[in-house]
Amino acid sequence: MTDYQNLALVGAGGKMGMRIGANLANSDYRVHYCENNPDARERLAAEDREASDVHDVIADCDLVILAVPDVALSSVTAELVPKMRSGATLLTLDPAAAYANVLHVRDDIRYAVAHPCHPSVFLDRRTDAEAADAFGGVAATQSVAAAFDAASETEKAALEPVLRVMYGPVDNVHWVTVTQLAYLEPTLVETVTCMLGTFMKEALDETVERTGIQREAAEAMLYGHIQIALAVAFKSTNPFSDACMIAIDYGREAIIKPDWKQIFDRNELDKVIARMLKIDHVQRPERSA
Ligand SMILES: NC(=O)c1ccc[n+]([C@@H]2O[C@H](COP(=O)([O-])OP(=O)(O)OC[C@H]3O[C@@H](n4cnc5c(N)ncnc54)[C@H](O)[C@@H]3O)[C@@H](O)[C@H]2O)c1
Repeated sequence: MTDYQNLALVGAGGKMGMRIGANLANSDYRVHYCENNPDARERLAAEDREASDVHDVIADCDLVILAVPDVALSSVTAELVPKMRSGATLLTLDPAAAYANVLHVRDDIRYAVAHPCHPSVFLDRRTDAEAADAFGGVAATQSVAAAFDAASETEKAALEPVLRVMYGPVDNVHWVTVTQLAYLEPTLVETVTCMLGTFMKEALDETVERTGIQREAAEAMLYGHIQIALAVAFKSTNPFSDACMIAIDYGREAIIKPDWKQIFDRNELDKVIARMLKIDHVQRPERSA
């Protein structure tokens, strides 16, 4: 595989499509922005990105990026993959569909997945632009987690510059397997981390409602303690106090189910991914880790 030059971005007017498209538009890649929704096409037009009909351009592209909803990937790939050029690469932005083997497969097409890590909570943000960039892809540096299971190191190296532009600024691209990427997302970062974010918000609301305390006071206490809890737990900046350790143990006993680590069982991963894709069950990937 030589360097990628001619790209199709399908779903270019969606949330990820607009973000990725903004970065690709500032690169040397030749990008075709494909979108089938009239409102989304208007968003493209507002950014001076001309929409192409995917059927007119796909045969010329060496990389097809699918920024479409995960539940649509089975039908979208069934429609588009047969029209792709032999040797081209199909890139999805979330591991669920690749893990569940719902992508339309052709032996002469390469399949990759790349997901942004988002800027770290420990990132040293020095500018207002970095501080404002919570998602990444604008000013705050982030890493990328990517899988290209059947590819050689040379093929991964050829794809990496595209990923660095799409999600830039990027410090590292971490190459993992599709299965490992599925354990990162959803299991680690959605099932656990995003759930805990919503859980903390619910606890904040409950505190305000039960105690009548001013919301600002509760927010100040919570946001500062989120920061120190992460610093102590992940960076060992200082130990938790003895009394805090007792409260942590009580919280685990009261809130966390003893067998919670079953979410890392393969069957549980299959279950949550099937639920996300709205399918009955996943087909185990042949190229599992
Ligand atoms: N939104 C996020 O925060 C986020 C983060 C990381 C990865 N992702 C992944 O990015 C992908 C896209 O998610 P999103 O949130 O941007 O979705 P979205 O719903 O915001 O956008 C999807 C776009 O695809 C378009 N589309 C659907 N079918 C199409 C087709 N056949 N041809 C052309 N366009 C078509 C829709 O009109 C829409 O504009 C998913 O795989 C998702 O898991 C999303």
